Amino acid sequence: MREAGVTMVNVGIFSWALLEPAEGQFDFSRTDRLLKLLHDNGIAADLATPTAAPPAWFFRAHPQALPVDRDGRTLSYGSRQTFCPSSPAYRTAALRIARALAERYADHPAVAMWHIHNEYGCHNAACYCDTSAEAFRRWLQAKYGDDLDALNHAWGTTFWSQWYYNWDEVLPPRATGADPNPAHLLDWRRFCSDELLSLYTAERDVLRAADPSTPATTNFMVNFSIEALDYWRWAPELDIVSNDHYLRSSDPESEIDLALSGDLVRSMAGGPWLLMEHSTGAVNWQPVNRAKRPGEMRRNALAHVAHGADGIAFFQWRAAKAGAEQWHSAMLPHAGTDSQIWRDVVQLGADLKALAEVRGSTTTAQVAVVWDWNARWAMEQPSQPNGELRFVDLVRDWYRPLWQARVAVDFVRPDSDLSSYRLVLVPSLYLVDDTGAANLAGFAERGGTLTVGFHSGAVDENCHVQLGGYPGAFRDVLGVHTDELFPLLPGETLSLTGAIPADATATAWSERVRLEGAEAVASYADGPLQGVPAVTRHSPGDGTAWYVATRPDSETLAALLARICDEAGVEPVVATPVKGIEAVRRTGPDADYLFLIDHGGIGGEVPTDGVELLTGKDVSGWVTVPAGGVAVVRETR
Ligand code: GLA
Repeated sequence: MREAGVTMVNVGIFSWALLEPAEGQFDFSRTDRLLKLLHDNGIAADLATPTAAPPAWFFRAHPQALPVDRDGRTLSYGSRQTFCPSSPAYRTAALRIARALAERYADHPAVAMWHIHNEYGCHNAACYCDTSAEAFRRWLQAKYGDDLDALNHAWGTTFWSQWYYNWDEVLPPRATGADPNPAHLLDWRRFCSDELLSLYTAERDVLRAADPSTPATTNFMVNFSIEALDYWRWAPELDIVSNDHYLRSSDPESEIDLALSGDLVRSMAGGPWLLMEHSTGAVNWQPVNRAKRPGEMRRNALAHVAHGADGIAFFQWRAAKAGAEQWHSAMLPHAGTDSQIWRDVVQLGADLKALAEVRGSTTTAQVAVVWDWNARWAMEQPSQPNGELRFVDLVRDWYRPLWQARVAVDFVRPDSDLSSYRLVLVPSLYLVDDTGAANLAGFAERGGTLTVGFHSGAVDENCHVQLGGYPGAFRDVLGVHTDELFPLLPGETLSLTGAIPADATATAWSERVRLEGAEAVASYADGPLQGVPAVTRHSPGDGTAWYVATRPDSETLAALLARICDEAGVEPVVATPVKGIEAVRRTGPDADYLFLIDHGGIGGEVPTDGVELLTGKDVSGWVTVPAGGVAVVRETR
């Protein structure tokens, strides 16, 4: 670890069975030894509560703490992340082990941070048992002020004879013979996120009581993997926001997914954050697990730094000989130190040391992208006009051209303060409440540029359709009125015509838009909506509001967003484009740091002046980014 420049280690994340061999009996000998060893070598510990993996004895004593899935199947112990979040026995046991660890190690000089649980909501985020049903009802009673009629109205339960006369009749959305009620399903997802959050805060409070000064975190996975948590609600509860990110072998542009993840977590943290996990090489949980290409691990790690990470960690230190993750890569591979991965890990340790001064700096963006879990959950429910659409894909459609154009973005909530942005993008916001809709409209009316993607503003916070024409909540600010939706079948393509690339096409979605103040920028050239506007531009108040009423092909969307950025006065991080090179700037009180990462495999030269920190060399006029490599320049101000 010293050779690799390791400064902090996560200890004991899934060690419950070893720490507490029998209920209430603790064995800290291993942890004592490990913490001493780390401390003697100048390495800090992020000491974990092991509550993501309750031991077998716990479930033998408390079988009712096993989770039940929506089909009524009780799951077994024998893996990890398998427990009922609402189980009182689980909560008691989790807080007992957290308290025991906190009391023993609060003053230990190695302990620099508390790591609570692990990736809440990964694998199993919901339990449908009777205890969970009671907890769900309590959550609903608090939300609806004990007023069952309010719930009935919010859920629209006159439909399909779902009206409830008694609170006891209300259940989790268990498997039924036909589609569930959308508002019921949405409240359930909100409840599941809150229920896990309450477990986090309960453990955190136990740790704080014994150790008020050591910060606590839990590791998020913000973009594709853990859909179950509304991280906007979670982030303020963490002392340090940390995130995990893994590449998907099937994704040919995983560097874009990584960048999106980094920007999202930085936005949630409101500044620097910690990368708690990524991999040195292949993972083990995909159909085929691709190894990283030469230099890819370094590019990944430094791209996380570029997007705001102030520390880089890996799952895992040593590749396991046994167990479910025996084929997952590690810093120290099965082959030992005579391996490329080990040499790369040692190199990365030196790189991170050279970048130490970057810590604390952050990115400023002129563009904000709206990201909302309620909208995501609602649009991905059954019985939608186009059930093929995924929120993350729609956001990435828009993020990709901005990344390619080297435009910095923040992610925001619909109700965030937008006053510092020139351009606000809403790729997909199926659901929005009145406050969010008014905030976004107000931004445009006060002079900002707002751009909204199709089928946004369709329903309110209870999944009730906004009547009077689509896109409901955004009709006025966009100056359009749609009377009917025309989603496209998979493989169906429409041609577009207008002030866009000549061969522009669109898939997935179209709608019969009528202009009510807006102008048409592009229209359908064929199909049932020939001549109908597909992209519109309106001038509400002092600003501009665009509506992209279809899913344009990537070149067309890129051209459109380039024009919108240009008109809104958005400037890229570096003006000169160098193909394949990602450019991100972190700004600190004393210096600006320009990160240039070559994903294209060719490298290039980028105009700048200052000092390149990885080599320590002065740069004047331009810096060379090596093929497949990275340059980080402390720019002359
Ligand atoms: C998750 C977990 C880790 C490990 C990795 C494997 O992110 O937190 O414990 O299982 O995945 O990729």
